[in-house]
Amino acid sequence: MKTSSSLRINRRRFLGLAGAAAAAPMVVPSHVLGLGNWPAPNSRISIGVVGWGMMGPGNTENFMKERDCRVVAACDLDKEALQKAVDKVNGHYKNKDCKSYHDYREMMARPDIDAVMLAIPDHWHALAAVEACRQKKDIYGEKPLARTIVEQRAIVNAVHKHHRVWQTGSWQRSTANFHKAAEVVRSGFIGKVKRVEVGLPEGHVDFKHTKDKCQVSEPPARLDYDMWVGPSEMIPYMECRVHMNWRWHYNFGGGQLLDWVGHHLDIAHWGLGFDKIGPMYVEGTGEFPPRDAVWNTATKYRIEMDYPHDVHITIAGGHPDIKSGTKWIGTDGWIWVDRSDKLECSNPAWKNGADLPDTTPFVRLYNSTNHHRNFLDCVKTRAGTITPVDVAHHSVIPGHLGLISMMLGRKIQWDWQKEHIVDDQEANKMLGREYRAPWKLV
Ligand SMILES: NC(=O)c1ccc[n+]([C@@H]2O[C@H](COP(=O)([O-])OP(=O)(O)OC[C@H]3O[C@@H](n4cnc5c(N)ncnc54)[C@H](O)[C@@H]3O)[C@@H](O)[C@H]2O)c1
Repeated sequence: MKTSSSLRINRRRFLGLAGAAAAAPMVVPSHVLGLGNWPAPNSRISIGVVGWGMMGPGNTENFMKERDCRVVAACDLDKEALQKAVDKVNGHYKNKDCKSYHDYREMMARPDIDAVMLAIPDHWHALAAVEACRQKKDIYGEKPLARTIVEQRAIVNAVHKHHRVWQTGSWQRSTANFHKAAEVVRSGFIGKVKRVEVGLPEGHVDFKHTKDKCQVSEPPARLDYDMWVGPSEMIPYMECRVHMNWRWHYNFGGGQLLDWVGHHLDIAHWGLGFDKIGPMYVEGTGEFPPRDAVWNTATKYRIEMDYPHDVHITIAGGHPDIKSGTKWIGTDGWIWVDRSDKLECSNPAWKNGADLPDTTPFVRLYNSTNHHRNFLDCVKTRAGTITPVDVAHHSVIPGHLGLISMMLGRKIQWDWQKEHIVDDQEANKMLGREYRAPWKLV
């Protein structure tokens, strides 16, 4: 008798073959196709989505556009958000098949679900991702990889242990201008890179328009606040620090720094070829509201880091000398890139839209033009995605270290191979957080 896991492997193999067949439509027998040339149901990737706030709906829509996957389940701790998710999915497929879940563990226990999309607050990333790995799901997970380095390491280990495909929401790698800038740097056009400037936003943004709702009150009946707080310290409910605005309180998120480091520093590392290494020295300074403020994350910050290969990287928010985006400065020139197709450089030939010089050797980086499509393709082929879990881990570690240095008010030395802060017990304790019972990591 076959076990459920061997059945799953066979199904995966089938998905892999279906992917190969899709590239050669002339040889696909018609009986393996579903109606209207849609992939037959048993060759589709079944997806469960967790979290329906700022990011969940967009990710889900991008998956629903793809014909070889099917969103079959939605999960949220807020009944209103959950209903919106189910309505959206069922409206798209014109049926009532999307099942709703309050507890992600119940959803992930379903053997027919192949992959999950996690768009939940940072303090939940590790528990949900590790559970998904345990249940043999592939994962599209949001940046930053997790709220602490210890949690990030737990996710990386679980992904490897269970052989999962992981895509991080660091989607900038799947867009043309960031890709081009990283290739220019990696190919050596700007010479030996000496400095990199990474500019991130400052302050706090009232995404949910709840800034004036900071009175302590009973949580609304539609929200399971106890589970929403999850492994974090229990603090009184305030509407202004749950949905979307949780990122402005260190109990749940890491402010602008941790919100953005997985975007622009991720790109900086890509251009440098630093996806598997980290800084050696980190010194952060920041301006913080009082620790007991309703929103207490740093409003202004600057992190100076020395990396191997004699590279210095500055990450800053609220410092006008560091422009938003990523700027690499080398011995022979510079290049700067940001969202909205912005790209400028010291040599006009490299300008946005212009062909790159026909120089050899030219380094070609992994090319993906659709981040969600890239995930689905890799689920089928079992190849690595454009932003696999180890990349996400290294892209965000400097943000965590910068925050630790800012909070301690001193420079720290990081052993990036051992993932340990050298000779500083107090700082090492800040690599993780205590979990509130009954939640346990691992
Ligand atoms: N890649 C990007 O460009 C991008 C942009 C925005 C946000 N994000 C990331 O997406 C993640 C979600 O952020 P957001 O702004 O969408 O948050 P949000 O608060 O808007 O939405 C999160 C939703 O998850 C639900 N939730 C919380 N814990 C849950 C749990 N244990 N199980 C099920 N549901 C749970 C909440 O009720 C809420 O509806 C964060 O990690 C954030 O950094 C990424």
